[in-house]
Amino acid sequence: MEETFDSAFDSLVSGMLSCHKGDPAAVEAVVGQMESLLKIMSLPDVPSRDWDSNHLSYLQKQGTQWLNAAEISCPAQDTRESQAGSLSLHERIGIVRKGIQTMSPPGSRASLAKKWVFTEEISADIRELGFADAAYGWQTWSGGALMAYLIANGTLSLGENAILELGCGTGVVGIIAAKQGAKHVVMTDYLDRILENAGFNVQANQCCENASVCLLDWRQFSNAEATSTGPLSPLLATPQKDIIQFKCIIGADICYEIEHGKLVPPVLKTFLERSDSAQIHLVSTLRGDVFGTTFFEAQMLEAGFCVVMQKDYSPLDFGDDQQDIARAIFNGPDQRFRYYRYGWDSSTAQLN
Ligand SMILES: C[S@@+](CC[C@H](N)C(=O)[O-])C[C@H]1O[C@@H](n2cnc3c(N)ncnc32)[C@H](O)[C@@H]1O
Repeated sequence: MEETFDSAFDSLVSGMLSCHKGDPAAVEAVVGQMESLLKIMSLPDVPSRDWDSNHLSYLQKQGTQWLNAAEISCPAQDTRESQAGSLSLHERIGIVRKGIQTMSPPGSRASLAKKWVFTEEISADIRELGFADAAYGWQTWSGGALMAYLIANGTLSLGENAILELGCGTGVVGIIAAKQGAKHVVMTDYLDRILENAGFNVQANQCCENASVCLLDWRQFSNAEATSTGPLSPLLATPQKDIIQFKCIIGADICYEIEHGKLVPPVLKTFLERSDSAQIHLVSTLRGDVFGTTFFEAQMLEAGFCVVMQKDYSPLDFGDDQQDIARAIFNGPDQRFRYYRYGWDSSTAQLN
């Protein structure tokens, strides 16, 4: 039976009251209740009489306080075996807290737009979605913000190539690549609501001339021969249905589940031009899931790529004059990212 708003709200309140905040399993259960409640509240067809601004204000005050206290009381341990896949408990707390804070009362539900100022000259207005609207594409992730910053400040030079972006989410990375002079950026993701929002952000940032959004689901490319098994968008295939290949492919935080280590390399293999100068730029969030990172890195080598450059980033890499952007990117002093530049391994790949 589907859970109603009333029953989900009641269970959450009693869960919050009875939970021992030092016990990660108990905290995780309450965080799960909050996630379910937010999902119910975000459904377009939930009558607004089911919940009103009093419920929301309770969640925003008591719920946020409870999450803050639980975060402090609970050790930042790895709870990656949880039902939410590779996200740690602290990451789930951060996501649910932001979901609560960004939810508006019924009748005035609006999406949130955030201004990202990367350098004095380069910024982007990025609309984010409601918590339950778009799974992991609902917000701009720190890995995406870092990659956009590296492109904006010239650390990461993508040239004037046509670029393919995988898992674009809200679109911040592709939009900044377009603003920095890419010939064209094809920004891709797999859920309608995410694609629609990324398209909205491309328009809002006046990048329509050299950025477009289209569907690309990694699950289409999961065999070793790396051929498409379904129809491809015209942006990814010629009218003769040949796959279009790119000299440059980018992606931020696209390997956040173990299975992505299997899914993403075949996609890269399919769409990367076979040439010495072809390049892949990725930023991964290091979530303490060492196995997931190692697995992905091994799969990339197996697929025929080699690491051209690799660098880890933490807040310590940001100088005094970069503290504003560092605060906007990093969710905490312990957050770490890994930037990779891959190319074809010329000893295994047949290059032109
Ligand atoms: C953690 S988010 C990162 C989004 C964005 N790059 C950023 O950094 O803000 C991962 C993205 O990968 C997308 N994704 C997950 N599985 C996918 C699949 N099978 N095919 C295409 N995109 C997928 C999600 O929809 C989401 O937008």
